Amino acid sequence: LRIGVLASGRGSNLQAIMDQCAAGQLPAEVVVVISDKPGAYALERAKGAGIAAYSVVYKDFASKAEYEQAIVRLLEQYQVQLVCLAGYMRLVGEPLLQAFPNRIMNIHPALLPSFPGLHGQRDALNYGVKISGCTVHFVDEGMDTGPIILQAAVPVLDDDTEETLAARILEQEHKLYPAAIKLFAEGRLEIQGRRVLVKDKE
Ligand code: GRF
Repeated sequence: LRIGVLASGRGSNLQAIMDQCAAGQLPAEVVVVISDKPGAYALERAKGAGIAAYSVVYKDFASKAEYEQAIVRLLEQYQVQLVCLAGYMRLVGEPLLQAFPNRIMNIHPALLPSFPGLHGQRDALNYGVKISGCTVHFVDEGMDTGPIILQAAVPVLDDDTEETLAARILEQEHKLYPAAIKLFAEGRLEIQGRRVLVKDKE
């Protein structure tokens, strides 16, 4: 399975995915990493692993559609079959969704549909929930609204700060994202409306 990763930042989820691929745990290969931020550490991680790395900068384009078309062209050039958003801080629009229907995944650091948006961990902490976690989901036009593939839960502790909770969740993210990609690679994910069913291994 040829994976393209979109990332805006430090890229620890990208690293987890690359590591699982390299270890032979995932029948997949990250073939291209694209960032909207030229300085993103995710790009360094890709280069360090010998993977093609590009920055595509939003303000260099006349419209969001043209910006996304440039990303789609790169993904197609690398014959990407699955697009993984890993800390990609933009809403996905029509060009990407149409080019990769049901083939874009995202990871979110909360148990959706609770606490969507940019500050999942902080919002969960401030709300006072006792359990939070992370969610891998297919991407649709909304903000963190697409069909849920897998979730993992972690406790919220009384002495948690945003940072300690985020770290506990991140540890789970690094396992959950590769697990979801593996199911996709094995052809075991079946979307039925809002539900994603996991089929048995053949
Ligand atoms: C993760 O917490 C992810 O859930 C969220 O953004 C963060 C990205 O971290 N979407 P990293 O760049 O993968 O280290």
